[in-house]
Amino acid sequence: MAQQEEVFKKLVSHCKEYGFVFPSSEIYDGLGAVYDYGQNGVELKNNIKRYWWDSMTLLNDNVVGIDSAIFMHPTIWKASGHVDAFNDPLIDNKDSKKRYRADVLIEEQLAKYDDKIDKEVEKAAKKFGDAFDEQKFRETNPRVLENAAKKAELHTRFAKALNDNNLDELRQIIVDYEIVCPVSGTRNWTEVRQFNLMFATEMGSTADGALKIYLRPETAQGIFVNFLNVQKSGRMKIPFGIAQIGKAFRNEIVARQFIFRMREFEQMEMQFFVRPGEELEWFEKWKQTRIQWHKALGLGDKKYRFHDHDKLAHYANAATDIEFEMPFGFKEVEGIHSRTDFDLGSHEKYSGKKMQYFDPELNKSYTPYVIETSIGVDRMFLSVLAASYHEEELEGGDTRVVLQLPPALAPVKLGILPLVKKDGLPEKALEVMNELKFEFQCQYDEKDSIGKRYRRQDAIGTPFCITIDHDTLEDDRVTIRHRDTMQQERVPIVDLEAMIRKKVNMKSLLKELKINN
Ligand code: GAP
Repeated sequence: MAQQEEVFKKLVSHCKEYGFVFPSSEIYDGLGAVYDYGQNGVELKNNIKRYWWDSMTLLNDNVVGIDSAIFMHPTIWKASGHVDAFNDPLIDNKDSKKRYRADVLIEEQLAKYDDKIDKEVEKAAKKFGDAFDEQKFRETNPRVLENAAKKAELHTRFAKALNDNNLDELRQIIVDYEIVCPVSGTRNWTEVRQFNLMFATEMGSTADGALKIYLRPETAQGIFVNFLNVQKSGRMKIPFGIAQIGKAFRNEIVARQFIFRMREFEQMEMQFFVRPGEELEWFEKWKQTRIQWHKALGLGDKKYRFHDHDKLAHYANAATDIEFEMPFGFKEVEGIHSRTDFDLGSHEKYSGKKMQYFDPELNKSYTPYVIETSIGVDRMFLSVLAASYHEEELEGGDTRVVLQLPPALAPVKLGILPLVKKDGLPEKALEVMNELKFEFQCQYDEKDSIGKRYRRQDAIGTPFCITIDHDTLEDDRVTIRHRDTMQQERVPIVDLEAMIRKKVNMKSLLKELKINN
């Protein structure tokens, strides 16, 4: 774990050094849990968004997109339940004055039992070598069983406290399990209190006339309130979906772990409207569709797992998270929820406007049920970077840092490098670039040795580099170098476009996906 944390620290500085992510307002010492994306970060982020958007709106002819406003009528947040219930349980340590989420402290305690079990398994695997039967070991080893039982006991108590909204019991768990503040190392805790996560501001010029409004904590409500606009103007028939990408804001209590938990972040959400009674079938379908979307990136199938919710929100009848193995453990990247007719029903109640759909096949009106898929762009960005970051030892004792990004997501697709800065090579290189830049993000670099230039491109994850040398002027061929294998081959300039396209285009990635019509 310590080694993983070390790698994570390196990743954070790598992000800054190579123009992926900067702390926001850095010259004023930053602003807690707010970040800016740099020149490479924005390209990677846009590619992630494009992959999601196209997978939703191109591949499913019954999914369309919208872009709703961040400011919305404040009653929306009353209807959605956010004004009354969008809270986190907060606890302070009196010695360090640090603030924590009580539920997160307990979740970390639960993860410790898993760590202990994994260590036992690892030790035994080393000891017994090929003869090791992991499943049998997990089922019979007394220390594994003891930790599994302790975990189950804590888990049951924790789930009940959450379901009952019992803040005293959450505190009691922290006390009973002797959970200490990671900063002060003490158990001097305050009571647990609820804390609303929405940012409020005012709209309107005079104090009297100003309206208290909220920065949206999720994009989903913009979809719900436009449900009938889209359905009618698009002549959509149930089942159909509405997709949206946009900023969301939460005044997170604990804002740690870089861009994992931010106060301003971006979501990609899709609400899929279905007939009542068919929602669980669609929930399963979307679960499979979404996990497949993640796995198609090739970051490693074992890095994903589903985590079904212990505590279902009062409006949900099924919910799961897709978790990704970050350097700090398996963490939620995406939530998939079966939200019943709660949101549309509630907006109907609060607005007094009908939110029903007339189903011509059934010849009746009803409030549709909703399956939601909701993924954070920034968390997705972090998972892609974390899985792609590698430090490699090369022959001859040299090392390199390489981002093995999925080529379709890489910020720069092609590095264009004249061997020397003279003899007409830069001119030839620019000529090649001026042809290719209509389709691919290219980067021209003539400074330093070729080796150093390769390292710079490796560090930002560029899948291909081409070198223009003196022979190029004679034979119109270039040396193309592949990022991951570092192999080089000589290819005609006329073949470059097709060769690069085959590897980096979004279409090949999208073609791997199953379609949910
Ligand atoms: N509309 C449902 C909804 O908002 P959520 O589980 O609260 O559900 C969905 O959020 C996704 O948004 C999460 O899986 C995560 O990827 C992302 N997300 C939530 N809070 C975040 C934060 N503070 N910083 C970065 N991403 C966040």
